[in-house]
Amino acid sequence: MQNSRQELDAILSKFKDRHGALIPLLQEVQLLEGYLKKETMKYIADQMSISAAEIFGVATFYSMFRLKPQGKHVVRVCKGTACHVSGANVILNAIKEHLKLEGEEDTTEDTMFTVMEVACLGCCSLAPVIMIGDQTYGKLTPEAIPGVLNKIVG
Ligand code: FES
Repeated sequence: MQNSRQELDAILSKFKDRHGALIPLLQEVQLLEGYLKKETMKYIADQMSISAAEIFGVATFYSMFRLKPQGKHVVRVCKGTACHVSGANVILNAIKEHLKLEGEEDTTEDTMFTVMEVACLGCCSLAPVIMIGDQTYGKLTPEAIPGVLNKIVG
């Protein structure tokens, strides 16, 4: 914890005199802590003399920022053209259903999985494709999803 605070302070001192550099600053902080914690954003506001509202505004506006912890396993669902026409939406729904994710939720309660939609993963001939970690799964059907996900938690 102490180390993490020191690393955070090191990032802040790097950006101290760089007004308008809030986005790269938050990117580095997110890299350090995995996501933007509320208390960290308040700390940044205090240290950098920026209003907390401005920081929250930027953090919530840009989709690259995460306000919740990311799951242990990241499931990337390809929404590129080839996958889209091959039923990427059906695959995504099957994943969300299996993981009991509702509406906009992207991370399971137990933080085992985070599901995200991504652009072409570069293996269109295998569409529809997902990636879990660095493993690619192609030519998927909704029926195959429970087996794929169960294998991950083993
Ligand atoms: S469109 Fe999905 S891998 Fe290319």
